[in-house]
Amino acid sequence: MSGNSGHVKLVPCAEKHVALLAELGAKTFEEAFAPFHPAADLQKYIKETYQLEQIKFNLKKPEVQYAVAYFDFQDAGYVKLLKDTNVEGLTGRVLEIEKIYVRKVFKGKKVGAALMQYVINEAIRNGYSWLYLGVWQENTDAISFYEKFGFKTVSTRKFKLGDQICDDFMMAKDLRN
Ligand SMILES: CC(C)(COP(=O)(O)OP(=O)(O)OC[C@H]1O[C@@H](n2cnc3c(N)ncnc32)[C@H](O)[C@@H]1OP(=O)(O)O)[C@@H](O)C(=O)NCCC(=O)NCCS
Repeated sequence: MSGNSGHVKLVPCAEKHVALLAELGAKTFEEAFAPFHPAADLQKYIKETYQLEQIKFNLKKPEVQYAVAYFDFQDAGYVKLLKDTNVEGLTGRVLEIEKIYVRKVFKGKKVGAALMQYVINEAIRNGYSWLYLGVWQENTDAISFYEKFGFKTVSTRKFKLGDQICDDFMMAKDLRN
């Protein structure tokens, strides 16, 4: 692998992806937030959120959709979507991006852009009007990435990480223009 010009392929997930999603989820969350949060809070959240049984349970929910991005055939990132989220103030169907994460070694290689483009295409194809997501207010890298794709802050929300309460910006992208 060299440079940024690898081939990125998006694959919608099924039951067979459970172990991969659990590992990819835990690893990318730790890579992103270990420098900023106490280890105990992080581990508590990771244990609750990414254990196999939890991912298996999530995959069975009709409103949940995961997709994995492969960069030159290596699993590099993923997205977790929530269909038809209700959001006060947004009219029309709303698709929530609950998680979008790229492994550290693949960051900056357009894997995130490929994941986001996949989500935009799927949302438009299925008649959604809005994309919606929450991002920790101090995660300036991700905020810049979302702004690049036309997301705007619409509100704030609290997010529980272990025993810590974090402040999120809620951002939305209008798909109708
Ligand atoms: C945010 C994230 C998904 C972006 O994915 P990525 O693969 O690194 O980004 P890409 O290489 O696809 O970049 C796409 C575009 O966004 C821009 N971008 C990416 N990271 C950026 C940053 N930190 N600051 C500003 N712009 C950024 C790129 O410059 C690129 O723009 P260009 O097409 O004009 O060159 C990824 O870095 C990540 O997983 N971060 C850690 C986890 C995280 O914070 N997830 C979000 C939690 S809410």
